[in-house]
Amino acid sequence: MKLTVVGGGSTYTPELIDGFARLRDTLPVEELVLVDPAAERLELVGGLARRIFAKQGHTGRVVTTSDLDSGVEGAEAVLLQLRVGGQAAREQDETWPLECGCVGQETTGAGGLAKALRTVPVVLDIAERVRRTNPDAWIIDFTNPVGIVTRALLQAGHKAVGLCNVAIGFQRKFAGLLGVTPSDVHLGHVGLNHLTWETGVRLGGPDGEDVLPKLLADHGEAIAADLRLPRALLDRLGVVPSYYLRYFYAHDEVVRELRTKPSRAAEVAEMERQLLKMYGDPSLDEKPELLAKRGGAYYSEAAVDLAAALLGGGGSRHQVVNTYNNGTLPFLPDDAVIEVQAAVGPSGPAPLPVPALDPLYAGLMANVTAYEDLALDAALRGGRDRVFRALLAHPLVGQYAYADTLTDRLIAYNQEHLAWA
Ligand code: G6P
Ligand code: MN
Repeated sequence: MKLTVVGGGSTYTPELIDGFARLRDTLPVEELVLVDPAAERLELVGGLARRIFAKQGHTGRVVTTSDLDSGVEGAEAVLLQLRVGGQAAREQDETWPLECGCVGQETTGAGGLAKALRTVPVVLDIAERVRRTNPDAWIIDFTNPVGIVTRALLQAGHKAVGLCNVAIGFQRKFAGLLGVTPSDVHLGHVGLNHLTWETGVRLGGPDGEDVLPKLLADHGEAIAADLRLPRALLDRLGVVPSYYLRYFYAHDEVVRELRTKPSRAAEVAEMERQLLKMYGDPSLDEKPELLAKRGGAYYSEAAVDLAAALLGGGGSRHQVVNTYNNGTLPFLPDDAVIEVQAAVGPSGPAPLPVPALDPLYAGLMANVTAYEDLALDAALRGGRDRVFRALLAHPLVGQYAYADTLTDRLIAYNQEHLAWA
C-alpha cells in the first residue's frame, strides 16, 4: 500500500511515522511518500523517518519529494497536513484580532477565518491533482480549519474525510481516569470541528452504560483543570466541552491572557527550531520527547485507524470524523460538516444517530455553521464584503465596527496569500 503525506516536511511527521511503525499490523504501509515544497526540512524529517522505521523493524520505504504529482501517483490515501504561510502567518492570525479585543487563535474567530481564506484554494488545488491521478484515493484532511476545509473538499466532490485529535485525546484521557482500555470508551461526541461537547461516555460501544455522570463526580476536578474551566461549570452543564469552547465560555478572560504572553506560534516556532536540529542528528532514531509539547497528541493513531477503516483493512468500526451532516443533526443543513461518531468503512463514514441536543449547544452550533458557510463563500469567491459578512456572523465578533476593522486587517496581513486581494 502506498500512502502520501502532503506537508510531510512538518515537524509533526515523526509522530505520524512512529504511529505507522507501531501500528503496522493495522495499516501495512509499503511505501510512504512525504511531499513538501521545503526541500531542506523534508531531508531532515525524511532521514529521521527512515531511522524510526529501521529501528522498529518496519520494512516500508520512505520516499521524499517536492513534486506533488509524482508523490501522489498510485497512493491509496493522501493525508493533508499543511500550513499555508507557516508559523509566520499563524503568528499574525493570533495577534491582530487581539488589538480589537477579539480572540487571536489559528482556528477560532477572525484568525481562523484568515487561515481558511489562505488554505481552501491551496487544498482544493492539491485535491484536484490527486483526483486526476488517483480518482479512487481517499483524502484525509488534518489541515485546519478542518470543518471548513472538509466542506470545501466535499462540495467539490472529493472523497474526503476530516480528522482532528480532540476526540481521541478525550478517549485516552477518560480511559486513563476510568482504568479501562481506550477502545472500550465510546464517546458521545457532538459538534463542529473545534466546537464539540462530550455528552456521554459509554463503555463497550454506543449502547453501553453511560459513565459520564460518575466520571464527572469522581474526576471533575482533573478534567476541569485540563480545560482551564471551573469545575462548577462542568457540573452545571453535565457535559464536557472541548478546550476550544474556552474561547467562547471565557472569551474576555482568554483575550486578557493572550495579550500578556507570547503567541502560541512563537512558542511553536522555537520548538520547531529545536526539533529540526534534533532531527538532523543521525543518532536520533525515535520521536523526541519535545514533540509531546505540541498539540497533536495521538494524531498518528487516529490517522492510522481512519486510513485502515477507509481502505478496508480494519481499524475501529466507530470513529469520530468530520463529514456531511445529512440529517444527523436536524437543526443544521444537510451539507454542513459536523464532527461526530460515524461507522467508517470503504464506502466512507456514516454518522451514528445523535440524541436530541440541548438548545444550549445546538444554538451555538447553528450560529458557527452559518459563519462557516459564509467563510467558505469568502474563501471560494473572495471579496471584502464576503469577509465582512463572515465576521459579522461569527458569534465572537458580531458587531459591525469590529467586523469592519478586522476585515481590513485580515486583508492587509494576508495580501500575498489571497489571489483576489
Ligand atoms: C490540536 C488540534 C489541531 C491543532 C493543534 C495545534 O491538536 O486538534 O487542530 O493544529 O492542536 O497544536 P500546536 O502544537 O501547533 O499548537
Ligand atoms: Mn484539530
